[in-house]
Amino acid sequence: MTEIQASGAAHDSLRAVQWLGDRLHLLDQRKLPFEELWVDCRSASEVALAIRDLVVRGAPAIGIAAAWGVVLAAQRGDDLQKTMATLRAARPTAVNLMAALDRMHASVESDVDAAALASVARSIQDEDLAANLAMGAMGAALIQSDSGVLTHCNTGSLATSGFGTALGVIRAGYASGNIVRVYADETRPWLQGARLTMWELQRDGIPATLIADSAASHLMKSGKVQWVIVGADRIAANGDTANKIGTYQLAIAAKHHGVKFMVVAPSTTVDLATPTGDAIEIELRNPDELLGYAGQRTVAEGAQAWNPVFDVTPHELIDVLVTERGVITQPDAAALRAVFGPDAH
Ligand code: MRU
Repeated sequence: MTEIQASGAAHDSLRAVQWLGDRLHLLDQRKLPFEELWVDCRSASEVALAIRDLVVRGAPAIGIAAAWGVVLAAQRGDDLQKTMATLRAARPTAVNLMAALDRMHASVESDVDAAALASVARSIQDEDLAANLAMGAMGAALIQSDSGVLTHCNTGSLATSGFGTALGVIRAGYASGNIVRVYADETRPWLQGARLTMWELQRDGIPATLIADSAASHLMKSGKVQWVIVGADRIAANGDTANKIGTYQLAIAAKHHGVKFMVVAPSTTVDLATPTGDAIEIELRNPDELLGYAGQRTVAEGAQAWNPVFDVTPHELIDVLVTERGVITQPDAAALRAVFGPDAH
């Protein structure tokens, strides 16, 4: 087996965010798995809408898309400061969006040439793929033989520049033979697990079993999973981690059942400027996403709903954080400062 096969990268061919020189080509994640429809964005405002409406989603992917949005604005001669403000406001929780725009902003200060900005956007995209491959290998090395894993939401190629974060660890762990059972949560209400993760795993020939979100504790009690492996949208300075709604209850259930809990995220998800999880803005989306499905109302007319789409897992519930800079066990403020702080090497 070659190194690339062992990492699982050999099976990963999906690239959902593609720069075509004068437009951003996005695989429409609202339509998967039954329609593989591509959307072309020709302006930054179209990119911002695509991010807001979840055509493109997943923390790293929205940062990458936003970076290309800035390039489109430069090509068109749009006001770049306004453009970056519009893109930044597209979604509030995933800090990768802000990190990518901060990097584009720093480049705009020195050079507003579209070609120069395109090379920065290309680096953001390429570095994300390299980080995912590195994290996949490091995370998989932590998993003992004959393990079952449970994942939540979609953290794969669709959510990143390729390979994925938590799903990258699962790809690599399956390729190495240590992961033998994969379970994916449905991830209500938008069904990222059911629609996207199951589709990605099936394309890669990795057998996976879908469970209802509410079946997770029962699964852990059965002894079939040894690890819960998830991604992240923002990791505060003390290790508290925002991720898709439902992650927090998985971490509580994992602790209760002695199942290990792994967060996998690139350093662009770490936000030392946010001291704790309490300071992370949690996106509230339209209650209609809960009150119906695919345009069909499922709840009695007049009913109300509350739709926070992320939650925060306290760092005490996280056994290990994998970033491309290394593995941090029991992540806390001191451990994060040592790896990401101003004095880190
Ligand atoms: O609302 P989404 O689908 O953008 O939420 C995505 C998640 O919560 C992912 O777990 C997270 O962004 C990590 S993706 C590598």
